[in-house]
Amino acid sequence: MFFNRTPQKKLTIAIFISSRGSNMEAILRAIRDRRLKNVSVALVVSDNPDAKGLEIARSFGVETMYLDCAPFKTKLEGAAEERIVSILREKNVDLICLAGFMRMIKRGLISAFRNRIINIHPSLLPAFPGLDAQAQAVAAKAKVSGCTIHFVDEGMDSGPIIRQAKVSVKKNDTEKTLAMRILKKEHSLYWRVLRDIVRGGVRIGA
Ligand code: GRF
Repeated sequence: MFFNRTPQKKLTIAIFISSRGSNMEAILRAIRDRRLKNVSVALVVSDNPDAKGLEIARSFGVETMYLDCAPFKTKLEGAAEERIVSILREKNVDLICLAGFMRMIKRGLISAFRNRIINIHPSLLPAFPGLDAQAQAVAAKAKVSGCTIHFVDEGMDSGPIIRQAKVSVKKNDTEKTLAMRILKKEHSLYWRVLRDIVRGGVRIGA
């Protein structure tokens, strides 16, 4: 058992996004509809001030913040990292959920939230890590792809896998059509993993 906690104790999460925020929305809907209980979203963080997901989060009454990550282009480090660590601690956040957050998480945040950062990735890891996972699957003529929720470590999409959902790749799939079907699975996977964490933890591996 990797993430082991007292069952049904309230789980306070922060969700990190960069643009559309549909996975975040699926989590917020699950909470609103009481499919996902004992989870509260303390904050939605975006490194992009124009992220559509920020508006969606506000429409659910959730606090949002824009985190200026300059001067870095692809990672969350330095002053922004220090700032967010202190905000998340102040809000007693138990778990960080990355949902389309397009920056590498570095050592400062990882060590402050060791084994308490999870991510969703649109492939069956370890296959197709990094950017454009759906295009990679189509180019590789994979027969099956899907999505993965995993713990975040210092590597690229490399942390311990929590759960996966499979999606068949059709012969005439394009990156877009495959991405749409995978996204649908993502939306039903993320809140279920959170539900299992609230129920007492998630088991990694066999
Ligand atoms: C999803 O495909 C997720 O797996 C990946 O980025 C995309 C985010 O989409 N990490 P959205 O912002 O949740 O709509």
